[in-house]
Amino acid sequence: MLSKKIIEEVKSKVDIVDVISRYVSLQKVGNNYRALCPFHTETTPSFYVNPSFKTYHCFGCGASGDVIKFIQEIEGVSFIEALRRLAKEANVKIELDETSSFHSLYLKFYNELHEEYKRNLNDFAISYLKNRGFEEDEIKKYEFGFAPIDSDIPYKIAKKLNINSLRKLGFLHGKDPFSGRLIIPIKDEYGRVIAFGGRILGEGQPKYINSYETEFFKKSSTMFLFNIAKDKIKNADFAIVCEGYFDAISFHRAGLTNAVATLGTAFTKFHARKIRKLTQNIVLSFDMDSAGVKATLLSLKILLTMDFNVMIVVFEDGKDPDEILKTKGKTGLFNIVQSAIPAEVFVPKALSKKYDLKNSNAANMYLNELKSWSEIFKSAPQRYENFKNKVKEILGYDVDFEKPSYFFSKKATMLPTLEDMLVYLYLNFPEQFEKLDVDASLLNFEAQKFFNFVKDENFSFDKLSKEMEGYIESVLKKMENTEIDETYMETIERKLLERKLEKRIKEIDKYLEKASDEEKKVLLQTRIELVRELKKLGR
Ligand code: GTP
Ligand code: MN
Repeated sequence: MLSKKIIEEVKSKVDIVDVISRYVSLQKVGNNYRALCPFHTETTPSFYVNPSFKTYHCFGCGASGDVIKFIQEIEGVSFIEALRRLAKEANVKIELDETSSFHSLYLKFYNELHEEYKRNLNDFAISYLKNRGFEEDEIKKYEFGFAPIDSDIPYKIAKKLNINSLRKLGFLHGKDPFSGRLIIPIKDEYGRVIAFGGRILGEGQPKYINSYETEFFKKSSTMFLFNIAKDKIKNADFAIVCEGYFDAISFHRAGLTNAVATLGTAFTKFHARKIRKLTQNIVLSFDMDSAGVKATLLSLKILLTMDFNVMIVVFEDGKDPDEILKTKGKTGLFNIVQSAIPAEVFVPKALSKKYDLKNSNAANMYLNELKSWSEIFKSAPQRYENFKNKVKEILGYDVDFEKPSYFFSKKATMLPTLEDMLVYLYLNFPEQFEKLDVDASLLNFEAQKFFNFVKDENFSFDKLSKEMEGYIESVLKKMENTEIDETYMETIERKLLERKLEKRIKEIDKYLEKASDEEKKVLLQTRIELVRELKKLGR
């Protein structure tokens, strides 16, 4: 057992301010230090470090603890691991068997279980792997195993080692969940097996399962093949991050051993911090289906705010690294990594696919979404330039993200249209709306459609089409918090009159084309009066 004395000794010997300042930039305020909290997103600092109590506390998200807890949380490691790292730094000796006998028992369990699974690798599993392109020596190298049907191996080994709590080992009581599955060992960064992935041999659901999370296995900080990749990441000065076991293995088989995979979950800042110690450059290689694009965008937000340079491999639909290696070989995989595009070009392109940019409302929503990205890219001038060029290429016009009000707020040029005002009025005060005499033919197509919808006797809001919902949402967003007062109503009436006049002018112009000289005189006279009236309204 670890003695309290050792823990206290470590805590007293390391300087909490020094440790925490490696992760955030601390500012002295009185006797304390303050920073932007590393555990949640904030713009005003509410994270405090108290050097006399040797604690930290965030008033924003409630994170708090001592220096060991801080390392646990920020590095995503267990208590023992955090303590071990700090002890090393503080030159406090922890006897090996003192560092939690359970951790070593845990590793022993996984090691023995893995050996047993490897022994059970049968012809069925071997032929599955050969079908996926593996040679005999590769099957050995990646240490695949197999869990026999109706396996009770985990329970036998736990019993032998005298471990009662299977849950603490990542297993539940009952049947071995990996039964009948190909076993893929998941290792910690020192190469010790801490969990397994299990793939069904052939088709079926779920395709993959994992050991349950434990004190020593957290998906949010574990990366598959990181133990092998870490040296290469440092040497090559970039990391490849993909999302599947077999994708990572494919990169390794092609010689790109700087590849790691997340475990089917999101890429997190814990993953990012581990990589950050080795390099500043990342190539993201996720699937390009909608889930993959979403994951890529989420990962990008994390990586870019941590100052990574990120390139994205853009696969054709349905293709992944495993598939590329199989069909195009090593060269094919190299080429596709080499053709990765920078994040600032990927983002506008990927987001544009969600919108029908010919529609002005959709284009505005697109720009709205790009706005937050522009803030992220802004910190690097070249990146920002590329970003803006790409947006221009997509939209066909320049966008000035520095003048946010132009596109993103109703206050400046984006004044609400007559349609916006009427729809908003209808949604908030239908009885006020009814008092107006609105000629729907004066309105644009979308608004006409809206009023046709709501005028229908059988109308109810849950019957709205997706498209109509989107339209209403965009109007509400644009009109957000607008007060409906006298001026509002007057503006509507003025705009309605404007439209009416404009419409009549247009009609006159049409008649003018075919009119006789006599008629023209009268028409032109009327036109002049209408334009005069229109001008008066404009003032
Ligand atoms: P293969 O079909 O074996 O080539 O897998 P893949 O990597 O092409 O599969 P996919 O892109 O569907 O999944 C990527 C990763 O997500 C896998 O490596 C797993 O880690 C995880 N994953 C996929 N399917 C499941 C599932 O059904 N359950 C769980 N827990 N994880 C899954
Ligand atoms: Mn695959």
